[in-house]
Amino acid sequence: MLVTGRELLLDAQKKGYAVGAFNVNNMEIVQAIIEAAEETNSPVILQASQGGIKYAGIEYIAALGKVAAEKAKVPVALHLDHGTDFDQVMLCIRHGFTSVMIDGSRFPLEENIAYTKKVVEVAKAVGVSVEAELGKIGGTEDHITVDERDATFTDPDEAVRFVNETDIDFLAVAVGTAHGVYKGEPKLDFDRIKTISDMVKIPLVLHGSSGVPAEALKKAISLGICKINIDTDLRIAFTEGVKNFLKENPDNIDPRKILAPAKAMMKERIKEKMEVFGSVNKA
Ligand code: 13P
Repeated sequence: MLVTGRELLLDAQKKGYAVGAFNVNNMEIVQAIIEAAEETNSPVILQASQGGIKYAGIEYIAALGKVAAEKAKVPVALHLDHGTDFDQVMLCIRHGFTSVMIDGSRFPLEENIAYTKKVVEVAKAVGVSVEAELGKIGGTEDHITVDERDATFTDPDEAVRFVNETDIDFLAVAVGTAHGVYKGEPKLDFDRIKTISDMVKIPLVLHGSSGVPAEALKKAISLGICKINIDTDLRIAFTEGVKNFLKENPDNIDPRKILAPAKAMMKERIKEKMEVFGSVNKA
C-alpha cells in the first residue's frame, strides 16, 4: 500500500529501526526492492533521484512506483531524492509522490530555511512529507557533486533552528558519509548524530550509506537515524548479476534472461540491508 514517508519514519523512530530508501531507475529495480520488502515483511521507500527522473522520465518513474506500492503487501512510500527546486517538487506531488526531499544545502542557512519553508507549506497542505538537508554531504549522487573540501558537517544548533523554522518531517544530516564508492572506510561522527537527534526530535536521514559497515549503520540507527539511503551498493549488485550471466552465456540476446539474475542479486543485497536496518517484520 502507498503511504507517506512521515508515517513510515515515525514508526521507525518509535521502535528504533530504520527504513531503507532505495533508488529506482527501471522496472526491474522497483520489483527487486518490492520483492525484498515483501519477503522480509519490511516497510520500504522507493526513491527517484535526479538521474533516475532524467533516465526514465517522471511519468514512468511515478507510474512504476505507484503500481508497485499499490500492489505491495507492505507499506511503501514514493519519495523524491534531492529535489532541486520548487517546481520539480510540485511536479512530483502532482504525479503522486507521497514524500519529497528539497535539497537547499548549497545555500547559506537563511536561504535554505526560506527555500525549504516554501515547499513545506504546500506539501503539508496536501499531506506529502518533506525531507531537507543541512550541512553538505560529499560525493556524487547522479548529477550532483559536492567536493570533499566543500562537505561540511551538520551543526546541531543550526539544525534546531532549521527544523523549528521550516517544520520539515525529517532531516538529512552530514555526519561523515558521502555518496558513491568510498576510498577508505567512512568514519561516522556518532556523537553528532546523538546530539542532533536529542535536540531536534524528528527522524534523521543518512545519505551515502553504501559501503558503510553494518555495525556502524546499526549504531547510527540506535542514535536516531530512521531512514537509510542506498544506491551505489544496488548498482554494484545489479551490474555483477549482468556481468556474471553474460560471462557464462555470451551468446544470449534475451534482455529478460540477462536482467533476471541482476534483479535477483539486487534483491538479495536489499534483504541483507533490511536485516541490518532492523526493518524486518516491521511492516
Ligand atoms: P549511495 O549511492 O552512496 O548509497 O548514496 C545514496 C543516497 O544517499 C541517495 O540520496
